[in-house]
Amino acid sequence: DNAIKKSMPLYGKKVMVTAGPTYEAIDPVRFIGNHSSGKMGFAIADELAKLGAEVTLIAGPTAQKAAQRLKRIDVVSAREMFDACTSVFPESDITVMCAAVADYRPKQVATQKIKKRDSGLVLELEKTTDILASLGVAKKTHQILVGFALETNDEENYAKGKLEKKNLDLVVLNSLNDKGAGFKSDTNKITIFNKALERTVFDMKSKTEVAKDICTAILKIAK
Ligand code: CTP
Ligand code: CA
Repeated sequence: DNAIKKSMPLYGKKVMVTAGPTYEAIDPVRFIGNHSSGKMGFAIADELAKLGAEVTLIAGPTAQKAAQRLKRIDVVSAREMFDACTSVFPESDITVMCAAVADYRPKQVATQKIKKRDSGLVLELEKTTDILASLGVAKKTHQILVGFALETNDEENYAKGKLEKKNLDLVVLNSLNDKGAGFKSDTNKITIFNKALERTVFDMKSKTEVAKDICTAILKIAK
């Protein structure tokens, strides 16, 4: 019913969420990828939709199923994810970049399957575009931009560095030092920094509960 919808905290807000890994082709049968399951991003997209937002979920290759209420755009490579993000972002009030985007891709993609050779194989890689950083440059004052930082060491400093360098409103630190946190697990342990570099530390929780904590932090800064 309309009155209920309108009373939801993110009613009328457009939200964009990225999730999952990207795959960078080597040849027609091989790629470079990572172990991201997409769970965290899908959970965040779903929570934001439950708060009344109109959510577009841009997903790399993943086995996750999206709820009907989400608009899902499937992509494979970092380049495709960049294109999708660039087209959706201008209309987005709140953007959460949860995807584990490949930092490098093969410079050359072989058109035929590469045959094995006794000499081994050297692949030349080139950097992908940092999608989040490019959105940080394009960001208008009314837009909220949330990024992640996946770290193994000197975590808090790297996370705060990403917040500042990429012009973020919040950064969610995902420390791989915590057992039970990260790509393959159903739980996660996060720390959130806001623009004032104020830190909120959360306990280890299910990814659904972590998604709720992230949404609460977003609601605090959303007008
Ligand atoms: N990200 C992105 N595009 C890329 C790489 C990363 O949008 N090509 C985003 C991720 O979605 C995440 C944030 O940037 O929100 C941080 O990703 P992370 O891998 O932790 O940091 P990087 O800046 O890639 O630096 P590094 O991997 O060297 O730590
Ligand atoms: Ca990276």
